[in-house]
Amino acid sequence: MVASDALAMLQETDQFIELNDGELVTLTADQITIENAAGEQLDRAPITVTIDAADAEKGTFPFYMLKEISEQPAVMRRLVSRYVDDAGTPQFDSAMLSALAAADRLYIVAAGTSYHAGLVGQNLFEHLAGVPTEAYLASEFGYHQPLLSAKPMFIFLTQSGETADIRQVLVNVKQAGYPSLTLTNVITSTLAREADYAVELGAGPEIAVASTKAYTAQVAVEALLAKALGQHKALPLAAAFDVAHQLSLAATGQQALIDQQDKLHELATEMFAQTRNAFFIGRGTDYYVSLEAALKLKEISYVQAEGFAAGELKHGTIALIEQDTPVVAFITDPITAARTRSNAEEVEARGAKVLRIASAALAEPGDQLIVDDLDPMLTPLLTIIPGQLLAYFTSLDRGYDVDRPRNLAKSVTVE
Ligand code: AGP
Repeated sequence: MVASDALAMLQETDQFIELNDGELVTLTADQITIENAAGEQLDRAPITVTIDAADAEKGTFPFYMLKEISEQPAVMRRLVSRYVDDAGTPQFDSAMLSALAAADRLYIVAAGTSYHAGLVGQNLFEHLAGVPTEAYLASEFGYHQPLLSAKPMFIFLTQSGETADIRQVLVNVKQAGYPSLTLTNVITSTLAREADYAVELGAGPEIAVASTKAYTAQVAVEALLAKALGQHKALPLAAAFDVAHQLSLAATGQQALIDQQDKLHELATEMFAQTRNAFFIGRGTDYYVSLEAALKLKEISYVQAEGFAAGELKHGTIALIEQDTPVVAFITDPITAARTRSNAEEVEARGAKVLRIASAALAEPGDQLIVDDLDPMLTPLLTIIPGQLLAYFTSLDRGYDVDRPRNLAKSVTVE
């Protein structure tokens, strides 16, 4: 059997033989022959894929997306027990940490949801590991490469590990001799194999096209890695940051939001049942989560949704606000909360229907949804849960196939 992803054949086998670029495979009823471009026969041992086929089942959930949203608290806890030692220090390959520590700038290269997780990662690496970090869209970076620093290191962030836009950047990076690390949910994937180092996201198989638990796993692994790197460099800020505690708070807070599904369904109906467009606003990490919440709504409910830096609305986009235009405002950053609130009031005064999602310490009467308090760098671990569930229920109410939205594929293997 031949497939582009191990998940497609898990019911049949856990033994897989990988093919590389330029190779030719001939399958007969009883033989597999692999040749390279020169016609030489290659001997390649099978690898064992350790994904449990049961993890790829929907169970009692109506859609994979709802199952995967519900798994996020367990993923947070699993990542802590997998990567953090008894002293609270995340453990990663020391050669990889040395390579990261030697870099004068980190370039996170990703696409779609993974890019949005990369934006959140910028802050984590800069703050905890003291290294300038920039997130880039792979499809842009490949053809319009910025001026690189003297000692760059590349982090490829990808759920599938097969995204073609990222692969073409990796090929160039390797040719140039720069060090690379892939953070991926599929440790047997092409991008994991081809980078110098690979770290597993450990979210478990993600089947729904809309990425949910891989996003929160990416943010969590970035936090773990940033803390490990900061401690490797003996930075006091990293030592003081209790990442295990933060992720365990995140797990509890996520569960509290998942338990409010009925309320979120009502809010989704109230906000998005009739609309053709919607806006998500916030500043800092709240802006980054706005981008991701808008993408979720777009891809599965086909509502034209935009994520905006709240302060940018007045520079043009506010012209689109009409009576009942839905606007979701994320308010979890103490430094900018008052300003985002005033942006929410500005759109409300022009007729917008505003849903305010605030963290407990910043909540005010009238806020419709409160999320637990968490370090402001990590609040997307909580605020994206209503973002995901609002999109899920909107798609459900409109009668769409939530897991398989039109025109999209899970692994995007073309540029
Ligand atoms: C998000 O819901 C999408 N499935 C999409 O944006 C995805 O994140 C993007 O194609 C990148 O995929 P990757 O993480 O597998 O590289």
